[in-house]
Amino acid sequence: MTTVALKDVTKIFPDGTVAVDNVSLDVGDGEFMVLLGPSGCGKSTVLRMVAGLEDPTSGAIMMDGELANDLPPRDRRIAMVFQDFALYPHMTVGDNIAFPLRLSGIEPVPRGERVADVAAALGIGDVLGRKPSQLSGGQRQRVAMGRAIVRRPGLFLMDEPLSNLDSGLRAELRAEISGLVRELGVSTIYVTHDQAEALTMADRVAIMRKGVLQDVGTPTQVYGRPATLYVAAFLGSPRMNLLEASVYVHLDRYIALNLGEQALYLPWDDIRARAVSHYHGERIVIGMRAEALTPVAPDTAGDVLQGRIRYLEHHGHESLAFLDIGATAVMVDELGGTPAETAGHSRGGRLSQVMQRITGRGPERPAGRRNGRDSVLSDPGRHSRRPAELAVRLAPYPAVTPGHPLAVQVRMDALHFFDDRGDRIDVGWR
Ligand SMILES: Nc1ncnc2c1ncn2[C@@H]1O[C@H](COP(=O)(O)OP(=O)(O)OP(=O)(O)O)[C@@H](O)[C@H]1O
Ligand SMILES: [Mg+2]
Repeated sequence: MTTVALKDVTKIFPDGTVAVDNVSLDVGDGEFMVLLGPSGCGKSTVLRMVAGLEDPTSGAIMMDGELANDLPPRDRRIAMVFQDFALYPHMTVGDNIAFPLRLSGIEPVPRGERVADVAAALGIGDVLGRKPSQLSGGQRQRVAMGRAIVRRPGLFLMDEPLSNLDSGLRAELRAEISGLVRELGVSTIYVTHDQAEALTMADRVAIMRKGVLQDVGTPTQVYGRPATLYVAAFLGSPRMNLLEASVYVHLDRYIALNLGEQALYLPWDDIRARAVSHYHGERIVIGMRAEALTPVAPDTAGDVLQGRIRYLEHHGHESLAFLDIGATAVMVDELGGTPAETAGHSRGGRLSQVMQRITGRGPERPAGRRNGRDSVLSDPGRHSRRPAELAVRLAPYPAVTPGHPLAVQVRMDALHFFDDRGDRIDVGWR
């Protein structure tokens, strides 16, 4: 099936909006690639360029190793499924699915056979005679899928195909769609802003922010070793706890990571110690997911943080406690945002000048391409401390209340470290 490669692809709309900023991405034969990111980050624009509905401003789109920039959409062997897919209301389900085959002049008998095969695969074989208005939302979505599959495309492009459905049906169709396209072996680019959908469906996930590709990898890679603070915060629920820490190296013994009134100690023989030691005397960001934290008895020794419960959230199968441990939170508050701001930023626009004035940081400091351009850390001179609220998983409906003290053990090997620009501090690369 079709392979796709984007090479340094940029899309600037006539009004100056930089929708896609120098994105390079490969989609392998039969691979299920999910493009993930918040609204407005450029996902649909990438998809539309691959489909040939939009021309890149610069860069190359390769299909099966050949430059495809000038290839008309109909020659790309692509099938698209959208959120607001439209079925023909006056046609039966069978005729809706058969429609693309009729257009390409396939004879009625083989056409009927293919429609029956596809409908059976999708579990809608018994409603072929109905009109779309007589179907449930999930069935309608399956018909739209059927119409896309029936042409036997080399590449599926799906743009939030499930976002109009309720959550139960969405979870069901998620599994069905990823199962089906893997069975068919068709390469797929699937767009969503739902991180759970991305992590459950993808072979690999590409995370975008403001037109810029942040990270690409298998769900395990991007979740387990996020390249940037932004990716770390975007993936996972509850959101990764992000704390400011000041680093103090005690040579040959340990590295103290001071979190306000408490500290964690990274042993000197930890493989990450050397990389973190470069930040001696500086502040970094420590990320800890809820699964790195286990409630323990208050007098437990070891890597333990003491806190007080600020509030509780009950989710039925578990409860979350949010602890004040006297540390300062790092906010990644740009999980949305528009590409225009970034354009101003990275191109030395007015906003970046303002930010330089505020942060006192000149343009000589190279701007990280993958990430936010300014320090993610708080400015002690200007802001009061943003108290970190550490999300900790508890059994459902625990016998604790807000104000209650709670100690948590920290799995040191599950910590993530980021520098003040939000880039991962790590040994080597995966
Ligand atoms: N024709 C256009 N002219 C100008 N700007 C556009 C045009 N189409 C899209 N944009 C802008 O480009 C940016 C990226 O849009 P795009 O539709 O690719 O985002 P998206 O990631 O698909 O968002 P969503 O999740 O909301 O669908 C947005 O800021 C959008 O406003
Ligand atoms: Mg979109």
